[in-house]
Amino acid sequence: LTLKLMPDAETAAAAVARQIAELVATRPDAVLGLATGGTMEPVYAHLVRAHREGLSFARVRTVNLDEYMGLPPDHPNSYHSYMARHFLDHVDIPHEQSFIPRGDQNAEASARDYAALLDRIGPVDLQLLGVGHNGHIAFNEPGTSIDAPTRVVRLSDETRRANRRFFAEGESVPSEAVTMGTAQILSARSLLTLAVGEAKAAALSAALDGPVSPDCPASYLRLHHSCTIFTDEAAGFNLR
Ligand code: F6R
Repeated sequence: LTLKLMPDAETAAAAVARQIAELVATRPDAVLGLATGGTMEPVYAHLVRAHREGLSFARVRTVNLDEYMGLPPDHPNSYHSYMARHFLDHVDIPHEQSFIPRGDQNAEASARDYAALLDRIGPVDLQLLGVGHNGHIAFNEPGTSIDAPTRVVRLSDETRRANRRFFAEGESVPSEAVTMGTAQILSARSLLTLAVGEAKAAALSAALDGPVSPDCPASYLRLHHSCTIFTDEAAGFNLR
């Protein structure tokens, strides 16, 4: 595992975007595993800028980590909407080359379809990951075993509270999601993780300095042969 401690969140996001852009430049048909969330917004902003400056994503295929159950693709808080708004609508990836689990179908069927798609699409070249306050990766919450499949999950109260900020007042945060499983995530050729800000400090130190354990799914990242974690002073100050 390679840990890159950057001075601030913006520098860390820029460095993550640069690694993705370099991969796409050298391997134009790469399969990218993508993540959503507040942390990733500046990463996509950098990638959109790289595209405007000439980087083509035309042959790239993308697979996202997760989607809320119960939200149709055009709901403003769906991860379909997030990806369109921050990235997919602004680059040249053909629609049919981007995949996100469906949140508006039968949950079990949606998870099964997505697992089958991931098998077909073959190994992910680079999987982008954020880390939850409670140490989750994708929506693999604490308690998830290392070999968990792509499946329907119940979101923890902590995760629902953390994501409350994206939802309108009075609207409830979904209680279930379809998530790529830990087994699938760890099968990517490389993992690129970004965790910044003081709210992530505890999760990051549990992931890196605590035991490798289902209590902190992000600790599984240490078992991957090619994982880089970018962090900033606020999240990484107490790492050994
Ligand atoms: C997003 C995802 C989540 C987030 C994590 C951090 O697709 O799977 O694991 O990466 O919850 O979210 P933010 O960046 O909003 O703190």
